[in-house]
Amino acid sequence: MELSITTAEELKPHPEDSELTFGTFFTDYMFNMDYSIEDGWYNPRIEPYGPIVMPPSTMVLHYGQAVFEGLKAFRTDDNCIQLFRPKDNIHRLNKSSRALCIPEFDEEFALDAMKQLVEIEKDWVPKELGTSLYIRPTIIAMDPYIGLRASHTYRFFIILCPVGAYYAEGFNPIKIWVSKNHVRAVRGGVGDSKTAGNYAASLFAGEEAHKQGYTQVLWLDGVEQKHVEEVGSMNIFFVIDDELATPALTGSILPGITRDSVIALAKTWGMNVSERKISIDELIDAQNKGTLQEAFGTGTAAVISPVEEIKYSDNVLKIGGGKVGPLAEKLFKSLTDIQYGKAEDNEGWIEPI
Ligand code: COI
Repeated sequence: MELSITTAEELKPHPEDSELTFGTFFTDYMFNMDYSIEDGWYNPRIEPYGPIVMPPSTMVLHYGQAVFEGLKAFRTDDNCIQLFRPKDNIHRLNKSSRALCIPEFDEEFALDAMKQLVEIEKDWVPKELGTSLYIRPTIIAMDPYIGLRASHTYRFFIILCPVGAYYAEGFNPIKIWVSKNHVRAVRGGVGDSKTAGNYAASLFAGEEAHKQGYTQVLWLDGVEQKHVEEVGSMNIFFVIDDELATPALTGSILPGITRDSVIALAKTWGMNVSERKISIDELIDAQNKGTLQEAFGTGTAAVISPVEEIKYSDNVLKIGGGKVGPLAEKLFKSLTDIQYGKAEDNEGWIEPI
């Protein structure tokens, strides 16, 4: 397949690095590719960023058949641009697609197209530490049809967004609230796929958390509502009595790429790392015993986000005295040093542009 490129007539002004928050600025170009049953994936193209015109009957608008990814490009001190673990994101996009009956695409081709797009837009990659170019590959159902079935046509697009910190708190600790009335995902569902509906389903409880003064929701499992699963936009880790523990991937948790990177780094440091069931009662107990040393979230957008408080009914678990814990600090530094090319990439996570 040949990738065509259409040049934009006008280019947008770039924001200052200091203006960057998350998700508000978009670059000049995007990648688009279409799918039909007859042609498979066809017409891959890089063209000016612009609207996707669709009739109101378009299936994605009704049944949410949509999957997406989030990954980042970083600018190194010597002005090179590099991607962090893009193959893993591309691979997970195909895995999410399978769960939603979306046809798979050629991963090598998609990676190459993404790299070409980032190459064209390399001037948009910000410089400041803590900033990056966020890459959002997405696939949506395009049939103009409102009966319920898998669509026969799709659009795969990639947009780029220069970003700063995801949370207003930056790297400062956040407070999270445990939802007792809602669950994010259930066994046998699509909790481990990166699909739009999972995020839509999290909004109501997220609003509830905000009203109570908390940044995000900490979800419990959908069966017993006993075991911790993940936070609104991140996976979650705890340090309990010197063990680094994170919920095991039981099928209803997103297999985060930052989560995987944190596990790998901590193992190379000889830490005791477990992926296991962690009940909310265990956390309360550890807090009472004084062994709940740290909590932090991990995600592409959030990177490492320290947690200073967890609220569950009347229990308020204060962690680390409102300070960033030593492990969260070390992981943040090690991970971002690799991402910005300041440290050796021993794991083969970096893909240069
Ligand atoms: C990411 O971390 O890349 C995500 O997709 C989470 C999203 C809520 C920003």
